[in-house]
Amino acid sequence: MYCKSLAGGRRQVLKGHVPVLLDEVIEVLGSSRACARKYLDLTFGGGGHTREILERIPDSKVVAFDQDPSAITRADLLLKNFSKRLRFEARNFEEMGIIQDTGYTGVLMDLGVSSYQLDEVDRGFSFREDAPMDMRMNTSQGRTAAEFLENASLEAIETAIREFGEESRWRAISRAIVEARGTGALSRTASFAALVKQHASRPAPGRRRIHPATQTFQGIRIAVNRELECLDKTLPLAFEKLAPDGVLAVISFHSIEDRIVKRFFKKLAGRPEHKNDNRTQDQRKVLAEIITRKPIIPSDQEILDNPRARSAKLRVIRKHPEGGLV
Ligand SMILES: C[S@@+](CC[C@H](N)C(=O)[O-])C[C@H]1O[C@@H](n2cnc3c(N)ncnc32)[C@H](O)[C@@H]1O
Repeated sequence: MYCKSLAGGRRQVLKGHVPVLLDEVIEVLGSSRACARKYLDLTFGGGGHTREILERIPDSKVVAFDQDPSAITRADLLLKNFSKRLRFEARNFEEMGIIQDTGYTGVLMDLGVSSYQLDEVDRGFSFREDAPMDMRMNTSQGRTAAEFLENASLEAIETAIREFGEESRWRAISRAIVEARGTGALSRTASFAALVKQHASRPAPGRRRIHPATQTFQGIRIAVNRELECLDKTLPLAFEKLAPDGVLAVISFHSIEDRIVKRFFKKLAGRPEHKNDNRTQDQRKVLAEIITRKPIIPSDQEILDNPRARSAKLRVIRKHPEGGLV
C-alpha cells in the first residue's frame, strides 16, 4: 500500500535557511510503501525538512543528526512542539550506528552547509567578508582551515584543490599556499582569497560573477570537514537502517558528491557502477530500485526564490521488499 501523496502542503520554514526541494522530498519520503513513518534526517540544519515531515506526515517520528553545535538551539525550538516525535543528536552522521533500531521508512541527507553557516561571517565559509579561516561544521573539534593550510602536506593540499575543488590551476595554488606559510596570509578569508585569485583560473565565459577562489574554497571546506569520507562511510549505514520498501533520499550540491551517490545507488541496484565495471549480472546483488533515473532538480521558480538551490540534485532509491545488507 502506498502512503497518500503529501506534496503541496503548507510551506512553513524557519528563518535563515530555505529548505531545498521541500515538496519533492516530502513526496518521496511520504510515498514509501513502508508505512511505519519513522524517519532519519541526517542533516538537520535549520530543521526545515524535519519540521515538514513532522507537520505533513501524520504520526511521523524523526531522529535528526547535525554535527554543528549551533543546530542544538534550532532543534530545541522544534522540540518544544514535537518532544514526543523528535529526537536530536548533535553528532556527525558517520556515528549514526549509535541508533539501535532499524526499520526506518525514509532517510534524508541534504548535504553541504546551511545558510546559517554561510551567513555567520565568523565561521569563515564565505569570502564575501573578511573572517578567520575556520570552515569547520563542528566548531568543537578538528583543525580549522587555517591550521590545515599551515600544516597539511603539499599532497593533501593538492588533493583538496584538484579533486575536491576541481580547480584546474591546483598546482600553482598549492605551491603558493605552501610558500605563504607563516606570513599570516592563510589565516583570514580576505587575504587567502586574494592569494588564490593571483593563481586561479579565470572563470569560464558566462560565469564571470563567480569569484576565482570559489573552487579552492570548496575544496578546502570539503577537506577540513572530511565530507566525502563521511558520505562514503554513511551511505551504507543509512541504507541498512531502512525497512523493506524504505527510501533513501540524498540532495547533493556538487558533482563530486553526486558521483558518489550515483555510484552507490547503481551498486545497490545491481548495475555497473562505472564504465570499467565489467562484472557479469550474476556477480551483482540487486538490493534496491533507483527511483530517480535522472536526478530531481529545482524548478526555475525555486531557483528564483532561493538561488542557493540552483545546483541541488535529489537522488532517491527504494530498498527492495526483501532488500538486505550492503
Ligand atoms: C544543507 S544543510 C541542511 C538543511 C536542512 N535540510 C534544513 O532544511 O534546514 C546541511 C547540514 O548538514 C550538516 N552536516 C553536514 N555534514 C554533516 C555530517 N557529516 N554529520 C552531521 N551533520 C552534517 C551541516 O552542519 C548543515 O547544518
